[in-house]
Amino acid sequence: MYKNEKPVLSVLQGKEVEATPVWLMRQAGRYLPEYRQLREKADTFIEFCLSPDLASEATLQPLRRYPLDAAIVFADILLVPFALGQDVRFVEQEGPVLKPFEKLSSLKWDEGRVAPVLETICKVLPSLTDQTAFIGFAGSPWTVACYMIEGCSQTGFASACQMAVKEEPLLDDLMALLEQATVAYLSAQIKAGVDVIQLFDSHAGLLTGKAFSRYVTDPTKRIVLALKQAFPNVPIIGFPRGATPQDYMAYQQATGVDAVGLDQQVDPSWAARELQPHGALQGNLDPALLLEGGAAMLKQAAYLLRQFGPRHIFNLGHGVVKETPPEHVTQLVHFVKDWRP
Ligand code: CP3
Repeated sequence: MYKNEKPVLSVLQGKEVEATPVWLMRQAGRYLPEYRQLREKADTFIEFCLSPDLASEATLQPLRRYPLDAAIVFADILLVPFALGQDVRFVEQEGPVLKPFEKLSSLKWDEGRVAPVLETICKVLPSLTDQTAFIGFAGSPWTVACYMIEGCSQTGFASACQMAVKEEPLLDDLMALLEQATVAYLSAQIKAGVDVIQLFDSHAGLLTGKAFSRYVTDPTKRIVLALKQAFPNVPIIGFPRGATPQDYMAYQQATGVDAVGLDQQVDPSWAARELQPHGALQGNLDPALLLEGGAAMLKQAAYLLRQFGPRHIFNLGHGVVKETPPEHVTQLVHFVKDWRP
């Protein structure tokens, strides 16, 4: 056993662990009353993310309540379009609203605009135990492009999908820009002190087959390659949410990620059989079960722990929903921490 190592890192490096580590996507956020209170200290969500005092506190809040094995830096995937110069706002009840960009040449990566995120990372570090992994993240180019093209999520990203099917040069150019920006941003996060990276491709499932490989797998592969060349010891978790089983397999085989994040649609026994022999897995409890709590949640959690065994980081299939009672998270996290094969 590697007692003095961070369990999340051990799983990602293919080492034995005593117990399955656990963290939750969106473990910080509005389901926590202390987050809602903290959130009032900034006028806009962007300002909140770019205030290292507030964002570092938001990062640490879930770790004060629960024995989680990882912290994830409090930020948002839409800080990348913001740093490229696009106007990004978050509207209450509606979600993100991005102002359409005039032409691609008006967008330019300005790392100074996300420098406060790097400061947040530095501020959080001294508060983490030597067992807690620190995850940095970015959206994958396809998912971020969806928001940049569409401006909001209400249309189901129809025009982005149409551009993908037609392989429009504008989309390819935007993707290339995002790929570069993502590598620069994640490299800066690693230099600031995170020890794991997660790439969120939340809208990967809008594409399949050829379009999936062109806009999801291939860019991810190039980002992983660039990061691995510079930081060979920093593991990367890829989360192609909503991908078909075939696309999940292709993604795992081609991208070089150290672990694949599974959404709740993926059949755990299929994933244990087909994906896990080739790498670690993360996921995939349905956030609706966490919302419900109790016996149904624990039954499925036990099933996942049995199916996946040790090459697994326990997580949800998507983020904690904001109506979730914090006590359900207590129940789940303790159940996972106390579980033994
Ligand atoms: O603990 C954590 O994971 C917090 C850090 C975090 C946030 N967003 C904070 C946030 C992370 C990792 C994200 C990722 C993110 N952001 C994704 C990928 C994961 C996913 O959910 O699919 C996406 C697609 C976004 C874009 C985004 N940000 C949307 C669509 C919205 C509005 C919908 C919503 O849930 O409110 C946001 C806002 C946002 N990001 C909030 C938080 C806590 C809520 C805003 C607020 O608190 O005022």
